[in-house]
Amino acid sequence: MAPPAPAGASIFVPATRRERAENFEGYWAYLRQKNGELFEREQALAEKQRVLGRFREHAVRARRPLTAPELFYRNNVVMRDDPRALDRTTLLLTFLYKFARHEWVGISAAWDVTPTLADSVYVTDKISRYHLAEEFGHMRLFHEMFETFRLDRVQWVPLAPWVRRAYAFFTRMPPALMASAAFVTELMGFTVYLHLDRILDTILAEEPEARERVRALLYEIAGDELGHIGLRRNYLGPLGCRTAKLMIGPMFRAFLRSMPEAALLFDVRQMVKDAQGFTYGAVSPAISKGAWVPSYVRLRP
Ligand SMILES: [Fe+2]
Ligand SMILES: [Fe+2]
Repeated sequence: MAPPAPAGASIFVPATRRERAENFEGYWAYLRQKNGELFEREQALAEKQRVLGRFREHAVRARRPLTAPELFYRNNVVMRDDPRALDRTTLLLTFLYKFARHEWVGISAAWDVTPTLADSVYVTDKISRYHLAEEFGHMRLFHEMFETFRLDRVQWVPLAPWVRRAYAFFTRMPPALMASAAFVTELMGFTVYLHLDRILDTILAEEPEARERVRALLYEIAGDELGHIGLRRNYLGPLGCRTAKLMIGPMFRAFLRSMPEAALLFDVRQMVKDAQGFTYGAVSPAISKGAWVPSYVRLRP
């Protein structure tokens, strides 16, 4: 395993074309070693399934069920009630659902247009297939979070047609812009996870076992997501890096505004700031341990 990135290491350090090509190879080797076999039909990875199995075998359930689970089911897809009237645990869970659902819609659309592993010629295609399978694995981990709170009727609901069209627009962006947007999307996911981690202690103070289970599931996801940030950075040249920095604020705000829970749970301005100044040192070792970091970030803090 490569040494961890130095504390102040910036994701935006310059890298040559050759270094980036080598890093795609490096990430590909890392992905296979970490995840083992990919099962196309199941959209799953051997090692991820093993980890999921371990969580399920030692399932944890909240001490008390939600006071009103129907509030979750009425507001998870679309917020129908006044979000300020919801208790914090329900608010946290409806946010998690909305966030994960966007991810599910994105990866489902991408899975259909990405070559299978057997049909992949380029290393970047092979990486994409593994990356998506990893994201499907995350959906199963999110599911475990809901099960932890005894919400066992959660289903991933497709987005409305107009939102799907917006996603399709995203996949037709000029490739240069698209690479920057994809990077910012990963950075946003990861930043949200770090901020989530911080609010778990207060929101779930009375559910210590469930809280630690949710945290363990979250860290399992976040470690991969940290790798995705590095991977997406690896697609960017100097112009792509500059564009990405400019996109952080507008993309974070637009996306988080679409979820009424976000402003009630998080300091969105701080999230934007954290992402703009992202360094590996801000990540707790419990998450960064074993995560993939591009070699140039490790070399040039
Ligand atoms: Fe993800
Ligand atoms: Fe990701």
